[in-house]
Amino acid sequence: MNDWLRDVFHDRPVWINALMVFSAYMAFVYMPWDIFWKPVSRDEEVWFGILFTGWSAKLGALAHWFVYAAATYGFRRRRPWMRIWGPLYSAQVAFGMLVWNVLYWGSWTGWIVGLIGALPFAALTLALFGAHEYFRDPRPHLRERYGDWALVTGATAGIGAELARSLARRGVSCVITGRREERLRELASELEQRHGVSTRCVPVDLAESGGAERLADACRDLDIAILVNNAGVGYVGRFDKQDTGRLRDLVEVNCSAPVVLTSKLLPAMLERGRGAVIITGSVAGRQPLPLHGVYAATKGFDLLFGEALYVELRGTGVDVLVLEPGVTDTEFQEVSGQIPHGGATAHAVAEAGIEALGDQPSLVFGWIQWIRANAAARLVSRPLVAYIAREITRPSTPAELR
Ligand SMILES: NC(=O)c1ccc[n+]([C@@H]2O[C@H](COP(=O)([O-])OP(=O)(O)OC[C@H]3O[C@@H](n4cnc5c(N)ncnc54)[C@H](OP(=O)(O)O)[C@@H]3O)[C@@H](O)[C@H]2O)c1
Repeated sequence: MNDWLRDVFHDRPVWINALMVFSAYMAFVYMPWDIFWKPVSRDEEVWFGILFTGWSAKLGALAHWFVYAAATYGFRRRRPWMRIWGPLYSAQVAFGMLVWNVLYWGSWTGWIVGLIGALPFAALTLALFGAHEYFRDPRPHLRERYGDWALVTGATAGIGAELARSLARRGVSCVITGRREERLRELASELEQRHGVSTRCVPVDLAESGGAERLADACRDLDIAILVNNAGVGYVGRFDKQDTGRLRDLVEVNCSAPVVLTSKLLPAMLERGRGAVIITGSVAGRQPLPLHGVYAATKGFDLLFGEALYVELRGTGVDVLVLEPGVTDTEFQEVSGQIPHGGATAHAVAEAGIEALGDQPSLVFGWIQWIRANAAARLVSRPLVAYIAREITRPSTPAELR
């Protein structure tokens, strides 16, 4: 508990922490009550000093909820847009104080009371404006933070190839791996020519016994600073219609390989006192997912493994992130036997993952997916979620596999 509190509050001044707690209270307690329980007839909201009542007040309350929810997130993650968001909202309150009092008291009394009311918020606006250094990325460059080399599994396609590109763009040299050697060579020359980094291609089948160990051995002479456990396969269909060998391979690639590689490469990172481990999980791992049952279970495994590792390694200099994409437009859908159905770009997923590294234990990509993973899956009973999930996976599952 103490470590968690330190994690949440350690890198901001007390007054910014206080604003963060106040915003969280407004977003999670007061505004939901105001929106859902307060009768419309009693609802009142003030914006820019103008009083709104009834349904217009309810709409104003929604806007207020959005302001406080964004502020909670912005204070917590020290987002650069808070340099504008914070002072702007506080200035609006200061302005509102003045207008409200002038309108409702009138004459000099209104101006005097209004100025007295506006003063603290004007001071807060200036303080927030002056605190812009807390809202810039406080972290040094990726290579300075972790080191020169990354190992990226599943780099021959999709999210893995984009993760390698994102790392190379930041000057990190890459060991890239997958089974298709030709693709590895193509990506390696692209990274070298475009970003001037070094590369090493290690073709390996992670489903084969000893595959992950061979890969770790092939990097033994390099200081691997960032391990990206990204390789993964899906397999769509009802369990009794699935092939045993393919299921076993899926568990090997999605679960055993990340465990073995992390176990082999982590000790050197700990010795150096810096490093990072990324595991590509999936929002599929947040709940039972009929027609992707084993796949979703392996991604649940990745999530729990990664989040536990994050906490175990706090204070060692080694960061851990479980990157949880939703549906992404890669070869994955075809390889897993689904009917293709589009999705986010692999580039956007990879960039978000690299940016979030060091900030948090896990990242669900996309706010709709975030709501689905965090709100829906926690508020609704798990069996019911499973039934709903089956309705979502059914259309992309070929009829003969349902
Ligand atoms: N696409 C999505 O909708 C989605 C959503 C959530 C999470 N994810 C996760 O994101 C990760 C990357 O998936 P993706 O969408 O980029 O899929 P992808 O385009 O199919 O790429 C999968 C990668 O994994 C490698 N791989 C598969 N089996 C392997 C094996 N036996 N040995 C070594 N490498 C192997 C593939 O390389 P070779 O074929 O050359 O071996 C390929 O580079 C996976 O962990 C997946 O579970 C994907």
